[in-house]
Amino acid sequence: MTKKQNSAPQRFLTGITTTGTPHLGNYVGSIRPSVAASTGTGAESFYFLADYHALIKCDEPARIQRSTLEIAASWLAAGLDPERVTFYRQSDIPEIPELTWLLTCVTAKGVLNRAHAYKASVDKNTAAGNDPDADVSAGLFMYPVLMGADILMFKAHQVPVGRDQIQHIEMARDMGQRFNHLYGEHFVLPQALIEESVALLPGTDGRKMSKSYDNTIPLFTPREQLKKLIAGIVTDSRAPGEPKETEGSALFQIYQAFASEQETAALRQAYNEGIGWGDAKQLLFERIDREVAPMRAHYQELMNDPAKIEGILQAGADKARRLAKPFMRELREAVGLRHLGLGAQAASAAKGKTAKSSLPAFKQYRETDGRFHFKLMDVKGQLLLQSNGFTSPKDAAQAIVLLQTQGAGALFGLEGKLQSVPGVATEAVEAALQQLIDAKS
Ligand code: TRP
Repeated sequence: MTKKQNSAPQRFLTGITTTGTPHLGNYVGSIRPSVAASTGTGAESFYFLADYHALIKCDEPARIQRSTLEIAASWLAAGLDPERVTFYRQSDIPEIPELTWLLTCVTAKGVLNRAHAYKASVDKNTAAGNDPDADVSAGLFMYPVLMGADILMFKAHQVPVGRDQIQHIEMARDMGQRFNHLYGEHFVLPQALIEESVALLPGTDGRKMSKSYDNTIPLFTPREQLKKLIAGIVTDSRAPGEPKETEGSALFQIYQAFASEQETAALRQAYNEGIGWGDAKQLLFERIDREVAPMRAHYQELMNDPAKIEGILQAGADKARRLAKPFMRELREAVGLRHLGLGAQAASAAKGKTAKSSLPAFKQYRETDGRFHFKLMDVKGQLLLQSNGFTSPKDAAQAIVLLQTQGAGALFGLEGKLQSVPGVATEAVEAALQQLIDAKS
């Protein structure tokens, strides 16, 4: 995956709509490169199951549930490590629909009128002489805003997507920009990351592999079924012994997506020498099965243990919400959804909350090396967190403000500028920061 060279860690985020069963095209185009990218260092990856988006296209509850399970199991079986990445289900993050509303209010309706998916429906209706909005749900119309919230919530820099999604990323960018302009710099403006090197995988009929063409080969279909589906790939009518064209051969392109350069060269040679289609299909079957079989076994195990997947997703949601919750608090504050108490102290007293004197506190100080430091102490004066040296007191103060307003969410961004204190659990630091935020709101 092409990585932008930048000093800040790049954050990648992508969503997968939970309406179908993953097929070889999804694997080659999305799952495999994403898993590979997530094992690299220096990047933070967010992958999520876009089940709110699924509701726009699908009103079959059982199918949504089944697809969510299958997609989660597929990503995990393909090697996604939930410890290294943040892997979660969109509908477990209530801050996402909350942010959707804030973004809705800064999005021009006219812009949504021009979104491809909505416009395609309108054009189709118009062509058929129907009301332009016939059978168009407001959900379809709002699709780009929900997607904008997905992306902006986690301050993603890069969003790996297919070409059809570029417009949505641009819209997310515009929403972020508009919000920042109105309310201050809160959002990172995302970019679409289009993987040029990943060829679109053809389906069994030679067109792009896609559920809508009914030409897919499910990634983890049983071995025998895989063989049968591969046998059904269209070929021309050349007999064994006649040289075959690799150009335009779906079979060859699919093989290439799985094979090494050497293997591909060998098949090209075999095509020239007139390999029979039956033999070529057998080669393709064996090549795919070699890569997929170990994952398939893991997939079956996971599918037989949905509770385990549920647990992984819950842990992912916890991780994601550690960022989403404080960020949403910051955004509510920014737009004026604020507590109406007289002041921080009066408000917290009224709520029966901790008074300011019994709160954790930041202390700034200067070391003998001339650098500016701060520390966080709990109510008893016990050290919880210590900073490294900053060159200016302003930088140190800014870091404190971040911690005070974003809480644990800021720890992420300040990595390298802070030191944990031996014997103090991260949870204790997070709790103290949360206490400060709660006292303020
Ligand atoms: N709309 C995307 C698709 O259909 C799925 C999606 C939802 C998504 N939210 C996202 C992709 C956020 C990237 C980022 O493919």
